Amino acid sequence: MADYILAIDQGTTSTRSIVFDKKGSIVSTGQLEHEQIFPKAGWVEHDPAEIWRNTREVIGQALGKANITRHDIAAVGITNQRETAVVWDKNTGEPVYNAIVWQDTRTQAIVDRLAADGGVERFKPIVGLPLATYFSGTKIVWILENVEGAREKAEAGDLLFGTTDTWVLWNLTGGVDGGVHATDVTNASRTLFMDLETLSWRDDILEAFDVPKSMLPEIRSSSEVYGTVGLSSLLREVPVAGILGDQQAATFGQAAFDAGESKNTYGTGNFLIFNTDTEIIHSKNGLLTTLGYKLGDEPAHYALEGSIAVTGSLIQWLRDNLGIISSAPEVEELAKTVEDNGGAYFVPAFSGLFAPYWRSDARGALVGLTRYVNKGHIARAALEATAFQTREVLDAVNADSGVDLTELKVDGGMIANNTLMQFQADILGVPVVRPVVAETTALGAAYAAGLAVGFWSDLDELRANWQEDSRWEPKMDDEERDRQIRNWKKAVTKTFDWVDDDVE
Ligand SMILES: Nc1ncnc2c1ncn2[C@@H]1O[C@H](COP(=O)(O)OP(=O)(O)OP(=O)(O)O)[C@@H](O)[C@H]1O
Ligand SMILES: [Mg+2]
Repeated sequence: MADYILAIDQGTTSTRSIVFDKKGSIVSTGQLEHEQIFPKAGWVEHDPAEIWRNTREVIGQALGKANITRHDIAAVGITNQRETAVVWDKNTGEPVYNAIVWQDTRTQAIVDRLAADGGVERFKPIVGLPLATYFSGTKIVWILENVEGAREKAEAGDLLFGTTDTWVLWNLTGGVDGGVHATDVTNASRTLFMDLETLSWRDDILEAFDVPKSMLPEIRSSSEVYGTVGLSSLLREVPVAGILGDQQAATFGQAAFDAGESKNTYGTGNFLIFNTDTEIIHSKNGLLTTLGYKLGDEPAHYALEGSIAVTGSLIQWLRDNLGIISSAPEVEELAKTVEDNGGAYFVPAFSGLFAPYWRSDARGALVGLTRYVNKGHIARAALEATAFQTREVLDAVNADSGVDLTELKVDGGMIANNTLMQFQADILGVPVVRPVVAETTALGAAYAAGLAVGFWSDLDELRANWQEDSRWEPKMDDEERDRQIRNWKKAVTKTFDWVDDDVE
C-alpha cells in the first residue's frame, strides 16, 4: 500500500516537490530555483527546459530524502504559477520561445488593440477577467506574432500551448511519446478564453485573439486521473491525479472549501481568494471571478480573487537590485532598526497595479521621502506595502460579499516575518491566523490528487487535518490605522498615469 502523495509545486521563483503523508504532514521536500530572465524593462521570462529539468531533479530529491520509491506514492498532484505561458512544438518537445511570465507587461499593445472594440471589460461577463497583460491569452498572441514561423506551425497544428501545469504534465506523462495535453479548470480560467459557465473554450474569443484552438489543452477537472507518469521517470506508472493553479491550491490546502471561506497567500505576489461556492459572482470592486476547484464530475466551485502583483518580489528587489539586504529574512532585522516608516510609502507598481485598481499605466513610486529617511525606513515601507495592498483587497472582498471577514487565514513565504504579520493584523483590524502546514500550495495539490485515487475519502477528512499554529491580534488604535491608510491611498495615486504611449 502506498502511504504518500507527491506534490509538484512549479512556482514563479522555484520548483518544489513535497511528499505528504495521510495527516497532510510534510515527509520530505526537494526544491530548486530557476533563473528569472529580464530581457527588457517589463519583460519577464523563464526557460521551460530548465523548469522541466528542475522538476525531475526535485522529484528525485524528495524521494531520496524520504528514502522511498514510486511504489510508496499513491498519486502525483501538480500546482503551478498560473498565467505563465509556454508554447512548444509537439513533434520535438522544444519550446518555440521562453515561457512568458505572468508579471510580464510586453503585451500591453495587444491588450489595447483588443480593448479598442468594447473596452477592457469586453469579455468579463463570460470569463470573469478584464483584458490585461497578466493573463496567458495575450502572451500566446505575442508569441504567434513575434516568433518566426510560429503562426504557420500553429495553423498547421504543430504547436501546443500550456501554463506550466500543462508543460509539466505533458512531459511527465511521456512528452513526444504520448504526453497528455490537458489542464484543469482553475488554470483554464486564467487564459481569458474559458467560459465560466460551460467550462469550455469560447470559439468567438479565440477568433478575436486569432489563436488556433488546436494549440489549447483539454480542460479537465482539478481532481481525476489525467494519465500515468512515463517510463523514463523515477515515478513511472504513478497516476497524475490532481491539478490546481497555485492560489486555488493554497485555498484547497487551507481547507477553505465552502462559501465565505478564504485565504491570503504571501509569496512573489499576494493573492486573496474568497470562496463563493457554486455561484459565479461578478465583482463591483476590482476583484476577478475565477474557478475555485472542481472535483471530478461534481459541480465547479467559484471564487472571487484579489491579485496583487508585487509583494515578496519587492523584498527580492531590495536584495538583488538595491543590495540593502543579502537574504529575504534580513529585511525584518533592517526594518526593526527603526520605529516606523519615517513617513515613507513604497507603492511597488512594477507591473502596473493589479487588484483592486487594474492600472497598467502605473509604475512604482517611493514617496514621502525626506532627508530623515534611511534604509531601515525603506525596508519597513517595503514590508508595509504588502499589508496595505492586502487591506485594499480585503475591503473589496468585504464590499462585494456584503459581510466583513472576521479573521484572515494566511500562508506563503512572507508569513515567516513576524513584523509584517503584526503590522498586517494592525492594518486590517482583524486577527491573522497561520496553519501548522504553511506549504498549503503543495498540500492543496496533494489533496486534489489523493481524493481522486481514494487516498483520502472526503473533504471532512481534509478539514480535520487543518490546525492553527499561531495568531496575530490587532493592536493599533483606529485613528493611527486610518491615518496610515489615508497616506497609503495618497501614495497610490502618485503612481498613476506614468506610462506614456511612446514607451514600450
Ligand atoms: N522573512 C521574510 N520576510 C519577507 N519576505 C520574505 C521572507 N522570506 C521569504 N520572503 C519572500 O517570500 C517570497 C517567497 O515565498 P514563497 O516561497 O511562498 O513564494 P512563492 O510565490 O510561492 O514562490 P513561487 O512563486 O516560486 O511559488 C519571496 O518573494 C521572498 O522575498
Ligand atoms: Mg508558490
